[in-house]
Amino acid sequence: MKPRELELPALLERLINEHDEIKKSFRELSTLLFENKFLTVANKLEELKLIIDQHIIDEEAKILKFLLNTVSKEESSQAIAIFQQHREIHQLLKELQENVQLLRKESAIIRDELENIMMIHFEAEEHQIFPPVFKLYKKVL
Ligand SMILES: [Fe+2]
Ligand SMILES: [Fe+2]
Repeated sequence: MKPRELELPALLERLINEHDEIKKSFRELSTLLFENKFLTVANKLEELKLIIDQHIIDEEAKILKFLLNTVSKEESSQAIAIFQQHREIHQLLKELQENVQLLRKESAIIRDELENIMMIHFEAEEHQIFPPVFKLYKKVL
């Protein structure tokens, strides 16, 4: 998977829209798990995984790369710390997929945990990373 060919402002807008789409998908998964529709959840998770994988590749290969090329590593440290949550997100998503495939009731708990982490993560990106990156982009144009 390669990063998308988008200029930074368009990419930032796309990423914020995807945060909303992903949040919506998680709410749908909650209902489906409550109804024990594991097969539907498994299919939706496959689609969601592709979206999340592309999303994270773009954040790391474009946003983080831009930061590291423009400011010091020290000034990028907050963004680096927030982007490090991607590993935990990947891990929980994998766990959720495995549990859903085994029709496990625990899937709902993992979904809840993943949703919590993603909400905190999206909030941090939208407030602490994206606005300063946009400002910086305008400045170095
Ligand atoms: Fe992210
Ligand atoms: Fe994001």
